[in-house]
Amino acid sequence: MENLKNRIAEVIKELYAIDGAIVDFADVPADIPGDYSTNAAMRIAKQAGKAPRQIAEEIVERLRQDSDEYVFSIAGPGFINVEVSGKSLAERLNAAWSDDYGCNKSGEGKVAVVEFPSTNMAKPYSVGHLRPGTQGWATKQILEANGWKVITDNHWGDAGTPFGIWTLGFLRSGMSLDEVTIYDLGDIYIKMKKDLKDEAAEGKHELADEVQEWLKKLEAKDAEAVKYAETFKQISLKHTHGVMERLGISTDYELGESFFAEPGKELVKKYLAEGKFEQNDDGSVICRLDEYGIDVPILVLKSNGTALYATTDLACMDYRVREWHPDKNIYCVGAEQKFYFEQLFAMGKKLGYDVENVHIWFGTIDQISEDGKREKMSSRKGVVLLEAMLDDAEKRVRENFNNSDLSDADIAKIATGAIKFSDFMADRKTGILYDPDKIFALTGFSGPFCQYATVRVRRILDKNADFARVDFADYDWAEEKSLLQLLLKFPDLVKLVGENLEAHRIAQYCFELAQELNRYYEKTQITQADDVARSARLSLMEKMDFVMTRALGLLGLEIPEKM
Ligand code: ARG
Repeated sequence: MENLKNRIAEVIKELYAIDGAIVDFADVPADIPGDYSTNAAMRIAKQAGKAPRQIAEEIVERLRQDSDEYVFSIAGPGFINVEVSGKSLAERLNAAWSDDYGCNKSGEGKVAVVEFPSTNMAKPYSVGHLRPGTQGWATKQILEANGWKVITDNHWGDAGTPFGIWTLGFLRSGMSLDEVTIYDLGDIYIKMKKDLKDEAAEGKHELADEVQEWLKKLEAKDAEAVKYAETFKQISLKHTHGVMERLGISTDYELGESFFAEPGKELVKKYLAEGKFEQNDDGSVICRLDEYGIDVPILVLKSNGTALYATTDLACMDYRVREWHPDKNIYCVGAEQKFYFEQLFAMGKKLGYDVENVHIWFGTIDQISEDGKREKMSSRKGVVLLEAMLDDAEKRVRENFNNSDLSDADIAKIATGAIKFSDFMADRKTGILYDPDKIFALTGFSGPFCQYATVRVRRILDKNADFARVDFADYDWAEEKSLLQLLLKFPDLVKLVGENLEAHRIAQYCFELAQELNRYYEKTQITQADDVARSARLSLMEKMDFVMTRALGLLGLEIPEKM
């Protein structure tokens, strides 16, 4: 369409001596002839001093002399409607087609760090860290499809207050180190948090002090503290990796918070000396951010000299910039930390770190409570464990599909596919509602619906693997126009999403493609058609399979063998 836009602008210049006319195309509603429509004639009517309808007629008369690629008509007060021939669409798709179809090199030479899922050592992997993982993985895939080099890092929470809470809670529980599981650790953590809260409400701080003691011991590399930390870390890592594997995500690095505690404190000293940070009377250190419109300074060192979240993030940003020289440094973390990241990024600017920091934030996963209210997802025990969610998803898939032929691998692909896809059903900034009836449905806007469309295409292709690849010169592609148009949109979509990182647009696209495919099947005979049509249609199905697989793949969905 770009060529046609330019051509129309050219014609306007020739006919009316108007330079740089704006020519936009809008999609035309299904009940009106034509595929696209422009109001270019109406826009210039005043300047050209003629009635818009007459201008439209004059422009169209010229365009008709160019080629028969398009069919033009005039509607209303002077809209120019353009109908594209199926044949020209097929030619365009063929010309653009390659093994890399959909990918581009716009990010070539650029580096992005993408951080996810950044779970915490002290807690089992819960649904709270589902979105960082799925959004992070999609972000990585999408940037790579745009030619970026992507380095992924799991900035996992293995330092800071939780460690103290956890060790003390463990000691109070009376368990032994070799029997404790990640789930015990999770319970211990929750119980300790409650005890600390109760204590604080009574105005006491005995437990809180003990927690701080353990933190200090760990920082001083006390042997006992290190032993606990190491053991808990191994238990937690094993668990985290297990869940990530089920989700089909992984990262290149796992530089957790503890890795950055010491370097963070060194940096605090350095920036204090340079006058960029300020020390409070109680010894704590802050960085003022007023010049960035943020009147709450960021705390970078606690009064007792220990590192906190921002200390480690300071060192982490410093490390990434020095080691990896990223153009973009992307954090996939929930919306609750929005303000914190605004502070962190402002501090990065103040300190002169030359990188574009990006916070990919998202809303919570909600559920409908027993009394019908929408609320953050939880279970009677508190958080919902991701493993439990995945187990439940597999159970639902087994029941819903009632197909004894399904392999375990296929069930897992459908179950995780459904869950991941639900993460992209709306703009990531809105929370998502976990509605199992929709998410696992084979119809409607769902992952399984899109997967099924692909499985169905593959089945047709498998059964007709021997189709002849003929010269389609005589085929008109009239029934395939909508499908062709959608397939042609894919590269631009990938490019757009590579810039705005709005991965949900890919999910919408997959849904449209699957729907269009269903419409197509309804009205078109594929395998029973005459030879030329059959070959043409099957070759289009190959491209459908390719694009659908790639688009779903960007979101981390795989295609099951059967469904
Ligand atoms: N572990 C943190 C949490 O669960 C998220 C870490 C985000 N990344 C960062 N660099 N601060 O809340």
